[in-house]
Amino acid sequence: MVLPFEFFVFCFQNIFMAGIDTSAGTLVWAMTELMKHLRAMKRAQEEIRNASGEKGMVKEDDLHKLPYLKAVVKETLRLHPPAPLMLPHETTKKCNINGYEIRPKTLVYVNAWAIGRDPESWENPEEFLPERFMGSAVDYKGQDFELIPFGAGRRGCPGMYLGVVTVELALANLLYSFEWELPTGMKKEDIDTDVLPGITMHKKNALCRLAKKIDGHIYE
Ligand code: HEM
Repeated sequence: MVLPFEFFVFCFQNIFMAGIDTSAGTLVWAMTELMKHLRAMKRAQEEIRNASGEKGMVKEDDLHKLPYLKAVVKETLRLHPPAPLMLPHETTKKCNINGYEIRPKTLVYVNAWAIGRDPESWENPEEFLPERFMGSAVDYKGQDFELIPFGAGRRGCPGMYLGVVTVELALANLLYSFEWELPTGMKKEDIDTDVLPGITMHKKNALCRLAKKIDGHIYE
């Protein structure tokens, strides 16, 4: 069978959108949480600047020296999974979950957002506390079902490693190169976490910040 050219265009478009939209969204949520939690931002910046020194930028090789930054990204994905209901799944055979019988060929949505905030799994679930992941074995790779921002099993996200490295590297460089402040007159309590409706969960209102480069230049 010969597949039409449009089929390949559609596939590539899908893969790029799946990767760009989710990674960019995670980066915005990470910066939002850090602007609301300046103590966490300072701790991440100290870790990054100590590890990368005067190199001028953070490289992929430096990421393994940044456990706190990784915890910030994990905590961001717990509170703001970019695909909160993941993709629709269909059951292949009859199964029983907590007394509920699910028939074959049932359309199932898994709520990763609610799972990440479940008080039975997480202490102070609504709080942004990257420290909870320091020294913890809980990971997003699909083995720990309380944290599944990438899904799990054979239909889990194939771009997980690329997505995580992209977010970690971009965030590390933003924190390494700039001091971040709120515009004059704005308080951290004014930063909202409203979301736009859609398959992917994006911040509704733009996050306004001032970026001060180490050389003193201010960007708005
Ligand atoms: C922070 C970054 C990312 C997050 C949070 C994320 C999350 C997800 C989630 C939740 C799913 C659905 C899993 C399920 O329903 O079980 C998914 C599927 C998918 N993701 Fe990602 N993703 C990210 C980055 C990427 C990247 C970088 C790529 C590719 C370059 C990618 C490609 C895909 C594709 C192709 C699927 C569909 C897989 C299938 O249907 O079998 N994702 N992703």
